[in-house]
Amino acid sequence: MVYTKEYFDVYQERRGTGSIKWDGCSEKFGVDSQTEMIPMWIADMDFRSPQEVTEAVVARAKLGSYGYVRKDEAFYQTIVDWVKRRYHWEIQKEWIVFSPGVIPGFNIAIQSLTRPGDGIIVQTPVYYPFMEAAERNGRLLVENPLIEENGQWRMDLEGLEELARKPENRMLILCSPHNPVGRIWTKEELWRLAKICAENQVILLSDEIHGDIVMKGQEFQALNAVAGQWMENTITYYAPSKTFNLAGLQTAFAIIPDNAMRETYTRGLNANRIFNINWFGGAALKAAYTRCDGYIDALCQYVDENMDYMQAFLQERLPQLKMEKPQATYMVWVDFRGTGMSTEKIERFIVEKAHIGVDMGSWFGKGGEGYLRFNLACPRVTLEKALKQLEKALQTV
Ligand SMILES: Cc1ncc(COP(=O)(O)O)c(C=O)c1O
Repeated sequence: MVYTKEYFDVYQERRGTGSIKWDGCSEKFGVDSQTEMIPMWIADMDFRSPQEVTEAVVARAKLGSYGYVRKDEAFYQTIVDWVKRRYHWEIQKEWIVFSPGVIPGFNIAIQSLTRPGDGIIVQTPVYYPFMEAAERNGRLLVENPLIEENGQWRMDLEGLEELARKPENRMLILCSPHNPVGRIWTKEELWRLAKICAENQVILLSDEIHGDIVMKGQEFQALNAVAGQWMENTITYYAPSKTFNLAGLQTAFAIIPDNAMRETYTRGLNANRIFNINWFGGAALKAAYTRCDGYIDALCQYVDENMDYMQAFLQERLPQLKMEKPQATYMVWVDFRGTGMSTEKIERFIVEKAHIGVDMGSWFGKGGEGYLRFNLACPRVTLEKALKQLEKALQTV
């Protein structure tokens, strides 16, 4: 199918479908169910998945019985081909380990490859399940905050080197591209990070789930296409879920090149009996990874234009809010500190006055204070409505 702007322009009311983003919004933000919130939080898209994926899922649904599923040869080969074609990294089938999600995957990595009390390094502000994974598994959360200068974010590699030298710090979780600041890490940053981790025996988990959603003129760098000489020290996570809006199908995978590490990790999975793929997930993954490149191109262009639209709106009408266009992801990280409100007030304002559900900066750890994360994977009409609501609400503070 040929994908055009019109495919993404369609407004789909997802209230009443069981969507967390829509039906869970009032509860999440503590407002009564009569208040109509615009849901721009949680990372799923208000766009339809590719038609090819829907057809594959419908064909599976029509089989009419939904028992246990075996991952066939084609499942693994599709992933090998995809990783080579899209990320320029040649992997072997044996390195692929299925996971029902990226988050469960790195929880298993923490449980099986580190011990209670070990330090897990994260680069804040960062996707908050990274921090929860460390803490909920009884590990020590070690923050290596990113450095921000005039809206540009970079890694603190000197600080990281110091932390990595401490023997209790055993693992780092990298977000690449970075959610929420939208950075695509450069080859040099990735190379230096991988080297620091490998030389200090800090296992490097690279969450590359957002790697397909890149803005105009940008190119995603997969860690091991850049720093492959240290790949035995890494676990990389991918999933079709963000790119093709399949999060509800719970299908992701880890790539673990080192045999011993993979065996230990797999024992951790087996201990939790996590090995059954979803009835629909494999078929959806195969369709998405073989027939939907045109969807990705059109999606990225649409999101890119949403970013430009929002940036122009803020510059012209709400200059107290600062946003840098992200290099990747469909999320935008907006600095509200220029409003003069405290973090707490900003986070109440967006819900109670603007009626928009967003991810709060304070959820993302150090450096997130005063920011809000908006999900721009929505039709332009939704974005226009949200920005008008925001403008009106700001006139009252
Ligand atoms: C960086 C990052 N990793 C992982 C996930 C979720 O992965 P999964 O649903 O496969 O557990 C998200 C979703 O927002 C994300 O932003």
